[in-house]
Amino acid sequence: MVFKVSKVSTTPIDGQKPGTSGLRKKVKVFIQPHYLQNFVQSTFNALTPEKVRGATLVVSGDGRYLSKDAIQIIIKMSAANGVRRVWVGQNGLLSTPAVSAVIRERVGVDGSRANGAFILTASHNPGGPHEDFGIKYNMENGGPAPEAITDKIFENTKTITEYLIAEDLPNIDISTIGVANFLGPEGQFDVEVFDSAGDYVKLMKSIFDFELICKLLSSSKFTFCYDALHGVAGAYAHRIFVEELGAQESSLLNCVPKEDFGGGHPDPNLTYAKELVARMGLGKSDSAVDPPEFGAAADGDADRNMILGKRFFVTPSDSVAIIAANAVDAIPYFSSGLKGVARSMPTSAALDVVAKNLNLKFFEVPTGWKFFGNLMDAGLCSICGEESFGTGSDHIREKDGIWAVLAWLSILAFKNKENLNGDKLVTVEDIVRQHWAIHGRHYYTRYDYENVDAGAAKDLMACLVKLQSSLDEINSIVKGARSDVSNVVNADEFEYKDPVDGSVSKHQGIRFLFEDGSRLVFRLSGTGSEGATIRLYIEQYEKDSSKTGRDSQGALAPLVEVALKLSKMLEFTGRSAPTVIT
Ligand code: G6P
Ligand code: ZN
Repeated sequence: MVFKVSKVSTTPIDGQKPGTSGLRKKVKVFIQPHYLQNFVQSTFNALTPEKVRGATLVVSGDGRYLSKDAIQIIIKMSAANGVRRVWVGQNGLLSTPAVSAVIRERVGVDGSRANGAFILTASHNPGGPHEDFGIKYNMENGGPAPEAITDKIFENTKTITEYLIAEDLPNIDISTIGVANFLGPEGQFDVEVFDSAGDYVKLMKSIFDFELICKLLSSSKFTFCYDALHGVAGAYAHRIFVEELGAQESSLLNCVPKEDFGGGHPDPNLTYAKELVARMGLGKSDSAVDPPEFGAAADGDADRNMILGKRFFVTPSDSVAIIAANAVDAIPYFSSGLKGVARSMPTSAALDVVAKNLNLKFFEVPTGWKFFGNLMDAGLCSICGEESFGTGSDHIREKDGIWAVLAWLSILAFKNKENLNGDKLVTVEDIVRQHWAIHGRHYYTRYDYENVDAGAAKDLMACLVKLQSSLDEINSIVKGARSDVSNVVNADEFEYKDPVDGSVSKHQGIRFLFEDGSRLVFRLSGTGSEGATIRLYIEQYEKDSSKTGRDSQGALAPLVEVALKLSKMLEFTGRSAPTVIT
């Protein structure tokens, strides 16, 4: 059949500004007439014509509610805009890291390569008819669109008058692998539905020593648990952990992807990954008899990760530092050395210490994975991570939840190589404590104040911006609150100049740097969909290895007190406690 192209008149819709990771709104916002269509057409119009006409686009996501309808609409709009072919993961499922891998690595049945992708996800936000949906565009390098493009998309949404759609194109059966061919006014248009895991699994096998990890998993002393929180990671977990690496089926928790994530909040942290936390012996009423040696969880789109040992939590900031410190020995992909390492500004300085001790290039970037992409494209960075449970490397241009788990399994397998039948395995906790003994420990915690009145949050930040310029005033508040906390020697509003393209990102959070290396950071979240979320990051460095074993909330209590006074948290927000502590 030959499909027709319709031009549909539309008018701009307010508020379509992409945030840190694309456009995220409640489903009820997305289902307004023309809402998705306006955004998709505005994206096409923001790209250079050759990135659209004749192009190959990936369209898939974490499988959340509305994804299936959205995929059909985007296919029809792609056809109408002259796209040559659309690739869809089976059942519309592709994790965010898998999309990045598919763009960079996959070759289509006809030899084609992808130019970009629409990723349908709101990441770690809940899903379902009353929850969140999201869409973001990734470029040819496999990474999120840079600000120049997302700004252009936003500008286009403010002036859009029409969009193109092939209304008579039949809905595609995305549950069956295969290629459907159509003929449009400009020639052939194909939709290829492919195995969601194949390309990603192949890439992981080229990075890690699967044989060695297999040996670890088959040791009777090693037990393992992976919680996908009903997100898209489930589509990969069975293939990788059970089929490739021989883990037991019973190691997988919540690994069936669901449109509403089983009603849960698919964010891998100590608050939301409740079942895993209990199984690992970290629950409030700890009844777990013999928790597994290793546990991990992913968020909805599987780019985030949480790493746990038996009754032990690894902070994401420590995790990236430990991976970087061990990568060359334990992970074949890095055997010839690291090009450099990078972290986001609020992430603890544990990685800085590793970089210094190993003489590696080091970068501190604003929050948001896209800032790592430029460094990686320029060959300056191999491993990077964020406090927000994101860890990854230059194998793709997104953070990668399953990669992080495989990295930890590799380190465990490497450290236990000669010891798999010994009395006791080297554990996650042993690895972390050994790391602290060598590099020192960064006590770290994050307080989140979610869904705060947006005006109040802005006022609080404005007050901090003002305060930041007067060290005298800051130190008098600090000393008034706690005489046992050291002086603030520097305070600023973080600004970043990209060393590759020279672009400048301003207003990236307020930092208070203390004489003893402690830090307090305040910033507003860029990923929420309602109200504002204030994040407070608290960190203290301890070099003395006899003092690295304290409870972190206890160790950080004085700094917390100081932070609440500096920011007048209660006064501005009315909140006497954070919503979530990680
Ligand atoms: C997403 C991005 C991360 C970023 C995080 C910050 O997950 O991909 O790169 O660290 O958002 O979220 P926030 O809510 O703190 O802006
Ligand atoms: Zn995510």
